[in-house]
Parts: sequence; structure tokens; C-alpha cells
Amino acid sequence: MQGGCVLDWGLVVLKSLKYKGNALHVLDQRLLPHRVEWLCCTDATCVAKLIRDMAVRGAPAIGVAAAYGYLLAVRSALSQGRGLTVDTLDAAYRELAAARPTAVNLVWALDRMVACLQAARSLPQADRLARLEVEARGIESRDVEANLAMSQRGAALIETGAERGWVLTHCNTGALATAGQGTALGVIRDAWASGRLAGVYVDETRPWLQGSRLTAWELEQESIPYRLICDGAAASVLASGRVSWVVVGADRIAANGDTANKIGTYSLAVLARHHGVKFMVVAPRATIDRDCADGGAIEIEQRPAAEVRAIGDQLLAPADASVYNPAFDVTPAGLIDALVTEAGVLRQPDREGIARLFG
Ligand code: MRU
Repeated sequence: MQGGCVLDWGLVVLKSLKYKGNALHVLDQRLLPHRVEWLCCTDATCVAKLIRDMAVRGAPAIGVAAAYGYLLAVRSALSQGRGLTVDTLDAAYRELAAARPTAVNLVWALDRMVACLQAARSLPQADRLARLEVEARGIESRDVEANLAMSQRGAALIETGAERGWVLTHCNTGALATAGQGTALGVIRDAWASGRLAGVYVDETRPWLQGSRLTAWELEQESIPYRLICDGAAASVLASGRVSWVVVGADRIAANGDTANKIGTYSLAVLARHHGVKFMVVAPRATIDRDCADGGAIEIEQRPAAEVRAIGDQLLAPADASVYNPAFDVTPAGLIDALVTEAGVLRQPDREGIARLFG
């Protein structure tokens, strides 16, 4: 891999990214939960590839990775004697931005880096580099803080009572998917810590199995009780009356509250409404794209057929089976009971409520 190296630190720390020694170290999420290996990138091309190939995933985490990828491009330009301008870095910007199209956090983070470079244009090159490193680290710590605020706000929505309920979650929205303790999984952690939960139903989340490989693993580290279910079992679990909330993250939220998240989220929202179960979306404001009028304008990433036909080397279908593999779907705002952000909670999110979050 260009600009990369493989490390095995042999240590499980729930942190999926570390920038140190002028390199971005990425916990390879494709190998979890059975192998803990770190990859490291020293250039933007390497970071873009790790995002595209899902070594790092989850909207906030890929935003943070992209910011550091841009910083690495700045470093390379400086060491090659190229000028540090938005134009000389445009190729790196475009390569990183194209790595995954649905999660808006990626472009949000890159645009902050570009704005920072522009604001520093009158400074000496070395100072511009220093400013950009501060900006990238700031994007990371802002996510940590947003996670904490969202976790508390979201947990407070989950009723306390003599009979503690279960929640159901989809995909992975925890420490692996963010720079901090997570979005939806952060809410679940805080709800568990404050005695509001009996446990968590975890959708396995085909085809990448982020639920079974990553969320179940994170919940085990925290000793939070969970039951792993096949995605198709969600309907009967919600019909059972045991679940009070479905709690999920988001990859891009349109200006009217329509929400793109991992494929299968929309089905859960329909099921939740049918069974009178409440539906919570947890995401930082960096995931809200106010330039996107509604869900119809959100680009949905299409992934390779091989991801559905096989798991690893094990074929599950005819070798050339025709496949449709959208990575995300859009849940209409009308099916969302609460949108939890670091700036506040919107009950029944709509265009006016979303605008208020930025007021
Ligand atoms: O394809 P992935 O694994 O990057 O998809 C991740 C999700 O859909 C998450 O729910 C979303 O990014 C929110 S993560 C805090």
C-alpha cells in the first residue's frame, strides 16, 4: 500500500484513529473482532484507500480521517517544495472527498481544512502547516465533545421505571465509528450506566456485519448485555413489546430531517411506527447537510456485488449472481420521533427545527 505500513500494537484500545509521528494510524475494522491490527498512512492516497475499502468507517470517523489525510497532503506538498495553496492541494481534496459519497462528515471536515488553509494564506508555510494540524485535531476533539453531549441528551429520553426496557440498534455507531464514545451507541452506553436499560438487541447488519463484528464487540468491552439478531428478526422483536426505542446513527441528514443511514434503517423505522416503538436518530450537526433539501437529493453509495455474494472467501450465492447493493437508505423525517444532536433534541424533526439547531 502506497504510503502505508502495518503495525500490530497488540493492544485493544477503543480508539479507531490516532495521529502521531506525522502519520495516521488506523485500526483495521475489516479484521475485527478476531484480529487487532493497525495500519498507518503517511499520504492522502493511502487514507482515501482505507476509507474506500472500509478499514475505517462510520461517518464521523471518516470525517476525522479525511481531515488528517488532508494534513498529510499538506505535509507531502511542503516536503516536495510545492506551494501550500488550495489549488495545489485540490487533487488530494478530490481524492479524499470521492472516497465515500454518502457520509457528509467527510466533505464537511475537508471544507473546514480548506477554510483554515485559506485563512492562513498570509502566514509562512510552516505556520500554515501548524494551523492545519491544530484544525484537524480540533475536528477530532469536537467530535469527542459532541458524542458526550449527545449521549447524555439521548439517554435522558429513555424512560426510567421499575421495568427497564430494551433498545434495538443497527450497524455500528460506537467508538469505532467516531472519535469519541459514539453517537447511538454512546446514548446506549449512558442509558445503561444510568440504569435505564435491560439490554440491547443488535442487528447483525448485512452485508458488512458491522452489528455482529463491531457493535457486539464494543458492548462486550463495556459489559452491556446484548442479544445479536439476524436483520430479519427485528420485526418479531419489535412486535414482542420488549423494545422501547430503536436508536440509530446517520450518514447525512437533509434540511427537512430525512435521514440517510445504513441500509436496513428505513425498514426499522417503518416497523417501529407500526408497532408503536419510538425511533431515535443520534448525529452531530456535522452530519446535517443543509444544502440537501430532502432525502431525494442524497447520493446513495452503491457497493460492489462481491460484498453480497460472499463473506470473505466463502461464496454464498452463484458466483455471478446479479446483485443490488446500496450501502444506505433514507428514512423520511416523519418516521423519526427524536433527532438528538449536540446542540439539542428535536422531537419530530422538520425543516424549521433543523434550521433552529444552527440558529
Ligand atoms: O458503511 P458504514 O459502516 O460506514 O456505515 C456506518 C453507518 O451507517 C453509521 O450508522 C453512521 O455512519 C453513523 S456512525 C456514528
